[in-house]
Amino acid sequence: MGQVPLKIGGVVVDPPILLAPMAGYTDTAFRSICMEFGCGATYTEVVNAQGMMRESPRTMHLLESSEVERPVAAHIYGKEPEVMAKAAQVAEKLGRYDTIDVNCGCPVRKIVHKGCGAALMKDPEQIGKITGAINEAVKLPVTIKTRIGYDEQHMNLFEMAEQAEQGGAVAIAVHGRFAAQVHSGPVDWATIGELKSRTRMAVIGNGGVTEAGDAIRLLKETGIDGVMIGRGAVGNPWLFREIACLVKGEPYLQPTREEREEIIFEHLRRLTELAILEYKHRRRIRWAPEKSAILAFRGHLCRYLQGEPGWRYVRRGLNDISSSEDVARAIEVAFSGRQGN
Ligand SMILES: Cc1cc2nc3c(=O)[nH]c(=O)nc-3n(C[C@H](O)[C@H](O)[C@H](O)COP(=O)(O)O)c2cc1C
Repeated sequence: MGQVPLKIGGVVVDPPILLAPMAGYTDTAFRSICMEFGCGATYTEVVNAQGMMRESPRTMHLLESSEVERPVAAHIYGKEPEVMAKAAQVAEKLGRYDTIDVNCGCPVRKIVHKGCGAALMKDPEQIGKITGAINEAVKLPVTIKTRIGYDEQHMNLFEMAEQAEQGGAVAIAVHGRFAAQVHSGPVDWATIGELKSRTRMAVIGNGGVTEAGDAIRLLKETGIDGVMIGRGAVGNPWLFREIACLVKGEPYLQPTREEREEIIFEHLRRLTELAILEYKHRRRIRWAPEKSAILAFRGHLCRYLQGEPGWRYVRRGLNDISSSEDVARAIEVAFSGRQGN
């Protein structure tokens, strides 16, 4: 059973398995680890187009990336076509992005209230104007990430796709839920599959893929071009390797405790490097780099250790973890099932 690479304009994504954008998680540290385990492409965390236009240090920090992550999308939000186009030019000029992706699905109130993210789903024509303006402004392929609709009364995926395609978008990633569902409840893969027969854009399906078999099933059942994984990869970047084994029919060996520990510390090391970089670039910063890295890492750590005998102790004490020694202790507690002193 082979897998056909996904094509986003001239950009080849092989394997066609992508890491979803997740604010607070998919920074360059995590993206690079996922790529090393066989992920096909990644997206940045969501980045504010206004901040990019102003080249604000805080926003530009979200655009840090490394060569191993390519292909990588600059995933931006905004509502004014001109601002989005200028932001896309900033990303293109950095020379480290392969595609420009427009966020048309984020249900977070502070983004929706500004008319961005999921608010755009109620105005498909605006999506067309935004993709059109970006397409004129840059050479990089333009894509969108959206959902099946705002809520059950507004299930307008096909209209959004049509407008995006008219604006020149070449791929669409669809989270098979309504914006009103946020991140839980049933996922509708069938509608994503139906979109495939209605558009010339590449279709990437997303939502509810937590096991290797889910990814293969989503591709097979719908005939779409790619699969995007979000939460299933947090704490389990090995999932990409497992999918590759399943595709090749090779046995998959779960990572050993040693391998997991190694990746946990490597992840923390990369986050610390990233925080040091931020410390150099930004004038006002709340925490020293080590502390800032640990804060960003807590959510990942909890997921890395989920299901281990002492995981609940770790979760309960997560807010007290503030150094790499605490991380080592948490690992010991998780694996031994004993709380310790
Ligand atoms: C913590 C978190 C942050 C997210 N941030 C973004 C984001 O910035 N942009 C976006 O388009 N989707 C975002 N999402 C949605 C994911 O990209 C994805 O569509 C969703 O989690 C469903 O996929 P999954 O079931 O594989 O997790 C976020 C999801 C989570 C859980």
